[in-house]
Amino acid sequence: MPSSTVTRAGVGAELCLVIPVLNEEGNIAPLIDCVSKALAGVAWEIVFVDDDSGDGTRAAIAAVAAHDPRVRMIHRIGRRGLSSAFIEGAHSSFAPFVAAMDGDLQHDETVLPKMLAALRADECDIAIGSRYVEGGGVGEWDATRAGMSSLATRLAGIVLRTRVSDPMSGFFMLKREVFDQAARKLSAMGFKILLDIIASLPAAPRIKELPYQFRTRVSGESKLDAGVLRDYILLIVDKLVGHIVPVRFILFAGVGAIGIAAHLVVLRTGLRFGGLSFAAAQTLATAVAIVGNFSLNNTFTFREGRLKGSRFLLGLLTFSLISSVGAYMNVNISALLVGETHTAWYVAGVLGAVMSLVWNYAVSSAVTWRRYTHAH
Ligand code: GDD
Ligand code: MN
Repeated sequence: MPSSTVTRAGVGAELCLVIPVLNEEGNIAPLIDCVSKALAGVAWEIVFVDDDSGDGTRAAIAAVAAHDPRVRMIHRIGRRGLSSAFIEGAHSSFAPFVAAMDGDLQHDETVLPKMLAALRADECDIAIGSRYVEGGGVGEWDATRAGMSSLATRLAGIVLRTRVSDPMSGFFMLKREVFDQAARKLSAMGFKILLDIIASLPAAPRIKELPYQFRTRVSGESKLDAGVLRDYILLIVDKLVGHIVPVRFILFAGVGAIGIAAHLVVLRTGLRFGGLSFAAAQTLATAVAIVGNFSLNNTFTFREGRLKGSRFLLGLLTFSLISSVGAYMNVNISALLVGETHTAWYVAGVLGAVMSLVWNYAVSSAVTWRRYTHAH
């Protein structure tokens, strides 16, 4: 019999749950238990995507996977991010339905069969677990977090073409072909994969929202930090202008603008109050701008690949060298333009500055923050 007649019908999973995990050791076994009870009778599989947890998360997954082939794992090293984790997990499966769920038991697994039923019946393209429809809720959230969430939800309206009460939800299920339609346009930044998917689709999807109560975390800690807000803004900006300019370049340019302002402030202070000569004040201002730009880029622009300890110092060194070359080229090229081609001073000035900005960005992302750039 030719091998082409071999079929996987009835063997493959119908539903793939992608569960990104980072230090969730204590939640793994109870979560798999809850899911298998909630999905009794369904051909499901779970793909955990672990970003190199430092606790026993992978061992806990391996312990279950040893006797349950429906449980698998992708182990990523040098990578971070809930969105990219979901994307990779989804691509690792052939199941016709894919769901995203947290690995900390905060999402109510009893909603999963309702999502699946809605998709099977073709009532929608995406079924979303919502905290903001009748019957849903956020549990024990403080006023700050609830306020931030509602602000972020309103901001999401800018890139969504359809009404979704909870576009921030990390709990949803969709048809594979819908995911595939968005796959090549995804920004894959930060936390908000649902928003990313909806905004990347060629047309607004049909959505059904199912209420659920966001549970309080029992084991482990939340990974939300200051970076989440930045990632969120980056995602929105990327969805708006990312097809024209990379958002990371916009951040880099913004930091550069802050650097110029800082430079002028230091220069003026040095001249006016410090009693420094122009050369001394200018040197000081340049040093402050370079160190300041490096630190800001390290914290914001390349946050996921932040350099620490001795790498921070080495990075400062390469960044200073790269910026010095950029400044040297800037001065020489703009002077050449003014001297040889009689370009107006402001045109030459701006061209020189833009050229050094592009140079600094391209070379520092390839050298100073290369470990980050290569991993993304
Ligand atoms: N692989 C991987 N990599 N997993 C991660 C990462 C990461 O960088 N960061 C977080 N996780 C995992 C956690 O281990 C957990 O399973 C899940 O992603 C959610 O992380 P939490 O830190 O518990 O997030 P949360 O409870 O604050 O946020 C939840 O609510 C948001 C709505 O406000 C999540 O459900 C979000 O998806 C949701 O948008
Ligand atoms: Mn959580």
